[in-house]
Amino acid sequence: MDKDLLNALQWRYATKTFDTERLLAQEQIDRIVEAFNLTATSYGLQPVKLFVVSDKALQEELTKASWGQKQVQTASHILVFCIKTQITPEYIHDYFEREIEIRNTDPNILEPYRRNMIEVFSNYNADEVINWATNQAYLTFGNVLSFCAYEGVDACPMEGFNPEDVDRILGLEEQNLKSVLLLPIGYRSKDDFFSSLKKVRKPIEKSVKYIR
Ligand SMILES: Cc1cc2nc3c(=O)[nH]c(=O)nc-3n(C[C@H](O)[C@H](O)[C@H](O)COP(=O)(O)O)c2cc1C
Repeated sequence: MDKDLLNALQWRYATKTFDTERLLAQEQIDRIVEAFNLTATSYGLQPVKLFVVSDKALQEELTKASWGQKQVQTASHILVFCIKTQITPEYIHDYFEREIEIRNTDPNILEPYRRNMIEVFSNYNADEVINWATNQAYLTFGNVLSFCAYEGVDACPMEGFNPEDVDRILGLEEQNLKSVLLLPIGYRSKDDFFSSLKKVRKPIEKSVKYIR
């Protein structure tokens, strides 16, 4: 496959069975998690935490939490996209401290922005924080899904799991986190029936409208 993102997006598909003999190298995982971390997020606050699971016993448990979907059991790794359920003033302070350290910015210049951000989040109720953070999770998810395709790594985007079960399995609640999306990744099995199917998409004229 040549390194063209459009070709990669044609090549990828929601993989239902992975080759359990072919595991992803750590260098490959490192590149994927870097792409995750580079995703743009609202205010740059990165309210998404990624768990990278390759423990096969844990994968078995996650499979049960996903109604037995085979891709979770057979994948090389499972990426679990989790959101922060609280954005505290301390968390916002950390963000500004990082900016000051990395960019050597004068803290006085940032002060009004810092105060404004703390106020915005103090006015959000719990559901508003979760909705906002969930939007950021979907954004990182889309970015990682495309990056995997670009890297020739197969993946299955997944909402089909019970988040309460996944939260319990990974002990997320006590870390003020909630699972939102799963992305099993690895290499497609040659027996995956779905790999030979054509892509089903609307014709472009039905999904895009030009206003000139
Ligand atoms: C957010 C999201 C959630 C999905 N959840 C599941 C899932 O739980 N199980 C599954 O087999 N496929 C799931 N899919 C895969 C879609 O069915 C698939 O992406 C879509 O039919 C388009 O096919 P393609 O990805 O092979 O091009 C999900 C896709 C997205 C984007």
